[in-house]
Amino acid sequence: MHGSRPLKAHRNNRKSTGMRTHDRQSIHGQWSSRLTFIMAATGAAVGLGNIWKFPYLTGIHGGSAFVLVYMLCVAVLGIPMMMAEVMLGRRGRQTPINTMRTLAKEANAGQGWQLIGWFGTLAGVLILSYYSVIGGWTIGYIVHAATGDFSGLSGDGATSLFGDFVGNPWIQVAWHTAFMLITMFIVARGVQSGLEKAVSYLMPALLVLLLVLVGYAMTTGYFMQGLAFLFTPDFSHFSGTSMLTAMGQAFFSLSLGMGTIMVYGSYLPKDISIAGTSVAVALSDTMVALIAGMAIFPIVFANALIPGAGPSLIFETIPVAFGHMAGGTFFGTLFFVLLLIAAWTSSISLIEPAVTMMIEKFNMTRRTAAVWTGLVTWLLGLGTAFSFNVWAEVKMGGLTFFEQIDFLTSNLMLPIGAIGMAIFAGWVMSKHVSREELGMNSAAGYFIWHALIRVIAPIAVSIVLLHAIGLF
Ligand code: PFF
Repeated sequence: MHGSRPLKAHRNNRKSTGMRTHDRQSIHGQWSSRLTFIMAATGAAVGLGNIWKFPYLTGIHGGSAFVLVYMLCVAVLGIPMMMAEVMLGRRGRQTPINTMRTLAKEANAGQGWQLIGWFGTLAGVLILSYYSVIGGWTIGYIVHAATGDFSGLSGDGATSLFGDFVGNPWIQVAWHTAFMLITMFIVARGVQSGLEKAVSYLMPALLVLLLVLVGYAMTTGYFMQGLAFLFTPDFSHFSGTSMLTAMGQAFFSLSLGMGTIMVYGSYLPKDISIAGTSVAVALSDTMVALIAGMAIFPIVFANALIPGAGPSLIFETIPVAFGHMAGGTFFGTLFFVLLLIAAWTSSISLIEPAVTMMIEKFNMTRRTAAVWTGLVTWLLGLGTAFSFNVWAEVKMGGLTFFEQIDFLTSNLMLPIGAIGMAIFAGWVMSKHVSREELGMNSAAGYFIWHALIRVIAPIAVSIVLLHAIGLF
């Protein structure tokens, strides 16, 4: 879901100048309730990351150990980071670049802190460049599902259907273009409230369909094997890279380290508990990922598919499930439509920072800014579209173009952005300000958060980063 407009804004155009800083109001309004914020932030967080990426990364990194480390990262780093990001946003009440500038000034710190905002803006464009290609896959699979291509499909059949699909560069470019067009259409119009309202019904529907898939997975006879793969600790396939990937995935899935959650925080009314809402969002996001895993792996084992198949994993398993289900054509089509919508709403939040930056810095109209950012992102995305076919063998450091961009953004840029925010919230911002803004009643709770954000998060994230790039 996008990050720039609350569902129901009560307009409040008070300027921040001349007011006590903690009374600053967003010029875009506020969330109408705590639940609205939780729904919107969960909508932004839930996307391809939960349903496409989490299962395939789990498969590549050997299952349960990855899941365990992922959950640990969500609990120890993700939740405190989300609290910090929401807190910075609510304090600054502007776009990430301006929020960081204002907060740095308030703390008598250098203007260099704005770089966090710039860095996140760039990360969003880079992520969207490949997110759009995978979003395009969901459109292609709506067509396959609707035309009955899944019916009676075997594991091998699904693998070759996917192979033919990604093997054709023209098809890849066509669906990538379609996905970018629908994203930029909404971004250019700047009218997102209708979409958001729709999403609050559609995302629960996606969850129901995932549960239907779990129901199917239970009938395969391999459900327990799937659960064991996900939950019986086994570190034999776990490496330093797995550790970094689990951490990167926690940031990616929760949309942290980029400024998106900061924007959401900027609309949060003063009296809402940041801790409680962050925990709720993180739990819902993680639950969706785990449910997707519970649906996928039994189907993988039942059909002799490979858990470590990579990005193709859900596109090879879900069609088999629907292909053997009564009403599978209908439910299969519906599933990919809902997945497309989940991807679409996340894609809007990925590009929105770049678009607002272009409007503010270059005085462009929203439409012109959307066209330019969309064009640059589309061009970059061609690299990913081709990395599954004509450029499949073009590698740097053993990684294809898609793998490079994914590694750079999830495993480096988001964690580095998160370290920046943690250092700012833990060291630059005074305790008095962060405590007041977080509004935590419990002194012990605040103490734990502060220790995690000031010491544990920067150190742990740095160690994992340095270890993975081979520095120790
Ligand atoms: N969290 C989204 C997902 O799991 O698909 C991806 C994402 C959206 C990452 C927005 C970062 C972001 F700012």
